[in-house]
This record gives sequence, C-alpha cells and structure tokens, in this order.
Amino acid sequence: MSKTLKVTLAGVEFDNPIMTASGCCGYGEELSDIFPLTRLGGLVTKSITLNPRLGHPPPRTAETASGMLNAIGLANVGVDAFIRDKIPFLAGRKTRIIVNVAGGSVDEYVEVCRRLNDVDGFDMIELNISCPNVDRGGIQFGSDPKLTEKVVREVKKVFSRPLIVKLSPSVTDITVIAGAAEAGGADVLSMINSVVGTAVDIHTRRPRLTNNKGGLTGPAIKPIALAMVAAVYEQCRLPIIGIGGIACWQDVVEFMLCGASAVQVGTALFVDPETPVKITRGLKEYLRTQKLNSLNDLVGKLEKY
Ligand SMILES: Cc1cc2nc3c(=O)[nH]c(=O)nc-3n(C[C@H](O)[C@H](O)[C@H](O)COP(=O)(O)O)c2cc1C
Repeated sequence: MSKTLKVTLAGVEFDNPIMTASGCCGYGEELSDIFPLTRLGGLVTKSITLNPRLGHPPPRTAETASGMLNAIGLANVGVDAFIRDKIPFLAGRKTRIIVNVAGGSVDEYVEVCRRLNDVDGFDMIELNISCPNVDRGGIQFGSDPKLTEKVVREVKKVFSRPLIVKLSPSVTDITVIAGAAEAGGADVLSMINSVVGTAVDIHTRRPRLTNNKGGLTGPAIKPIALAMVAAVYEQCRLPIIGIGGIACWQDVVEFMLCGASAVQVGTALFVDPETPVKITRGLKEYLRTQKLNSLNDLVGKLEKY
C-alpha cells in the first residue's frame, strides 16, 4: 500500500493534514507568491465579520519569550467584500479552503454564515467563538457552554457544509465547551485559539498593545494546546484540528499522538512562511522511517503512564 498524508475530516478529504491558521496569512494572496497553495492541506482565512473592521490601532503585536502577543481586533473586509473580492481568488487554488467566521452576537454569526452558504468556492466554515481581542462576542461565546451550543445550533440551521468550532484555552474546563459544541451539532473541533496575556513597556509604563492585553501564540503555548487536545480527545468523539505553537513536523506528530487528526500552523508563518511545506516533507520521511502507511495510524496513540 502506498504511503499517504491524506486525512479526511467530516467527509472532506485533505491532501495532507497541514493548514494555515486563521489570521496568519490573510486571504492567501501573499502566501501564494511564496509557494503554490496546492502544497497546503488547507487554508483558513482571517476571521470574517458582517461589517468591515479596521481593528485596533498599532502597536497591535509584540514579541515575547518563545511567542508573540497580538490584539489585531478582527480587522477584515466584511462578508460582502470577502465574497466579491476574495472568494474568486481562493476558489481557484485547488486546496481546501476554510472560511473563519466571527461575530458579536448569535444573529451576526448566523447572518454571515447564511450569506456564505449561498456561495461556492470553499469547503467548510470555522466558527471563531474564542477571540480574546474584541469587546463583544468572541471569547464570551467560547467560555459559556450554553451560548456555545446555541450559536453552533443556529449556524447549523443555515449552513449546510461541515462546521468546525474553534475553542478557547481561556476557560476552566475545555472539555465542557467541546461537549457543548458537539451537542450543538459541530462536525469538527479546532483548538486552541490564543491565550490571554499582556506585556509592559517599563519606560512608558504602558502595555505594549493599545488594547492593553492580547493573545499569546507560538511555541510558548504548545504544551497548553497538547494537554487540551489530549483531554478533549478522551471525552469527545469529534475529530480535532490541533493548533498552538506548531513549527516543525515533530510538533505535528506530538499533536497527532495526543488525538489531533490534522493541524494548523500560525505564528511560525511569520518566522518562515514555508514552514507548512517543510513540515509536509518531514512527515513523508517520518512515515517512511517508521514504516507507517498513514498518519491516521498515529491519532490518539499516546501511551499514558
Ligand atoms: C496575528 C494573529 C492574528 C490572528 N487572527 C485570528 C483570527 O482572526 N481568527 C482566529 O480564529 N484566530 C486568529 N489567530 C489565532 C490563530 O489562528 C491560532 O489559533 C493561534 O495563533 C495559535 O496558533 P500558533 O501558535 O501556531 O500561532 C491569530 C493569531 C495571530 C498570531
């Protein structure tokens, strides 16, 4: 049998398990100048909201030990301009396209997803119920099981393709929120979004972000993400997309052993935009040396003490 990196999530086949994470390559245009997007398993867009958003004023990113903080504030073109100006480019890419959707109310999530349901050229929606950088919506949904179940259930009524729900780490027990998303009808879970954090400029005595706080990402959060993926894998039957600090193929194997069926790469793209291509190459070699036919054989195979 030939060796394959292919994975299937909610009936959708991906050529390999590596996707770009939301907010880390916009709508894919710039990344396509660096390598053909067909090399990706999938591309996840920046979060799309009903109306265009400028986001927070700069500085809205700051480097930290083993990671970065951001408080972009969901800057995006809004759903109508996205459908008009961005989907035509994405639709021709011959890779899986996932549109990430954010909102300030259940009605906003539903309306954005309803408009997207009428459009071809993408495969799934990822519901961002976990953004720490906006006053309304985002993390408020992702930290409340009842609201999580409600928003997922309402979106499922208007969107007929598979739905990924993206979970926040800034909760007491992520398995409760995962269970609520499953109860609402989610098809796939992705985790984790950024971890709330801040950094201080000791000379100005001000936070280093105009939003005063932001989301921590990059290698610093990988251990948190791994533990949360392992916990949700034990409690929940939905496939999991692992996210958090992934920078090399070894990181991907760790996530798969903990229970992820696929992964997303975010902050590492800012260090080296070719990271997904390098990871895919490494995974192929790993399958060969381990005499494995498929990465699926690794999922959840962590041998616990
Ligand atoms: C600059 C930046 C912008 C982001 N914007 C979004 C966003 O719009 N929607 C979203 O769901 N996640 C967003 N994220 C979170 C990432 O998709 C991902 O969950 C997080 O960065 C953890 O992965 P990483 O450690 O590989 O970066 C953003 C992250 C960064 C660094």
